[in-house]
Amino acid sequence: MIKTNSEFKKELDDLLIMFYDQDSVMDIVHEEMRAGKLFEIFKCHGKTFEYEYNDPTGSELRQKSLRKRYALLSLYKMLVKMEGRTLPWGSFTGIRPTALARTGIESGETKEHTVTEFLEKEFMISNEKAVLVSKILKNQKGIIRNDHLIDFYVNIPICPSRCLYCSFISNEVKQVKNLVEPYIDCVIKEIRAMKKLIYDKALIVRTIYVGGGTPSVLEPSQLDRLLDELTFPVNEFTVECGRPETITKEKLDVLEKHGVTRICINPQTFSDATLKRIGRLHKKADVFNAYALAIEKGFKVNMDFIVGLPGEKAGTITKTLSTLLDLAPNNITLHTLSLKRGSALFENHEQLGFKNLNKVISKCESDLMNAGYKPYYLYRQKYQLGGLENVGFFRDEDLCQFNIDSMEETASIIAVGANAITKRVFSIENRIEREPNVKFIKDYIERVDEMIERKIKLFENV
Ligand SMILES: C[S@@+](CC[C@H](N)C(=O)[O-])C[C@H]1O[C@@H](n2cnc3c(N)ncnc32)[C@H](O)[C@@H]1O
Ligand code: SF4
Repeated sequence: MIKTNSEFKKELDDLLIMFYDQDSVMDIVHEEMRAGKLFEIFKCHGKTFEYEYNDPTGSELRQKSLRKRYALLSLYKMLVKMEGRTLPWGSFTGIRPTALARTGIESGETKEHTVTEFLEKEFMISNEKAVLVSKILKNQKGIIRNDHLIDFYVNIPICPSRCLYCSFISNEVKQVKNLVEPYIDCVIKEIRAMKKLIYDKALIVRTIYVGGGTPSVLEPSQLDRLLDELTFPVNEFTVECGRPETITKEKLDVLEKHGVTRICINPQTFSDATLKRIGRLHKKADVFNAYALAIEKGFKVNMDFIVGLPGEKAGTITKTLSTLLDLAPNNITLHTLSLKRGSALFENHEQLGFKNLNKVISKCESDLMNAGYKPYYLYRQKYQLGGLENVGFFRDEDLCQFNIDSMEETASIIAVGANAITKRVFSIENRIEREPNVKFIKDYIERVDEMIERKIKLFENV
């Protein structure tokens, strides 16, 4: 890893990981002022590389952000030279390239019509990805800078079984059986306290999202009890029912009764062999059955799928996509597998290869667009294979506002439940404060009052 005196060590390390394994080769990196000019200096395999750039001007925050940008760009240029390959997202190591582009526009550094060039020049992002970002900016509707407009999130970190690749904190239902009822009691307590806060501060909830985990793993009576509390009058109300084997007509009746408008049914792949391999308990037929039930009830449906699952070649992925396009759900979310290097699954992945993976992702994105789907949000995760991305698509006008607000961080989110992260956006000051709840169900049950107090404090001076 980098031994460094640079203040951007973490980001430089993140970039290095994209090129090498954990135990890397970078010796030293530092900045040096010489004759009024700033130099970024790296030593690698005994060779020294240095880049000179103009000393940035502007506010302290702005200068820091530019220096970070140039440090990353310098390292990236050096790595490209040494390794003879580029990365789709260039020197950009963050998770929100669309927010980066929006900030560029809002700060006057670029205009909307020149955003592609801005991303290519300042971050060496590939033309294909820069064009994708600019399309997403055009498709994003409903971003309103009004700090009284918020979204409401409920986290149910419980699932029927643990998927092999899952990086989220979620519990197998059989392991937390005795905690489910007390957990719902505490979530309800938190919701009630937040309803009072929302009323007192004259906040307006515009979307509700119940995610996880797999909220639909709850029994119909438990879902009924929980949703009964979510009485905000909204046009968009999503409940994740990701695992199709948890979906029954009775549960969908409960969702309908409480005004849910959108659900997620996530195939991930339409290969039964892969589903078994990754520890999901459903088969592709379960997706078809659950989807038919959902359509009958008139829910909008999102479907997630993942590229890079173990054992899958390009042909399997093409088949999954073509089945998805035949089903034509309102939203499709395309994920690139995110895996820690060194894990058993990571080794397995090599079957597909990074180069091919990028091609497959690009092909999926263009096939979706050719079929009439439009990209509307994008984010990257750490350890995503090939440094690639996740992209949400919609058809017609059915995009999910909650996804835009949360990914772009343009609206506050009050979030309840274990591991839920509340965010308060201060639009005028251009900053965000976060208040995470404790991660585990057991701790949450013990400390729910503290979670409530912390959030009341976060919103005390609205
Ligand atoms: C938080 S999960 C919740 C959805 C639901 N529990 C399910 O699995 O169907 C949201 C989505 O993230 C994606 N996901 C989860 N783990 C991932 C990983 N390691 N790499 C890429 N995508 C992942 C899956 O497509 C999943 O549907
Ligand atoms: S169902 Fe979703 S949240 Fe649950 S373990 Fe699988 S990927 Fe993770």
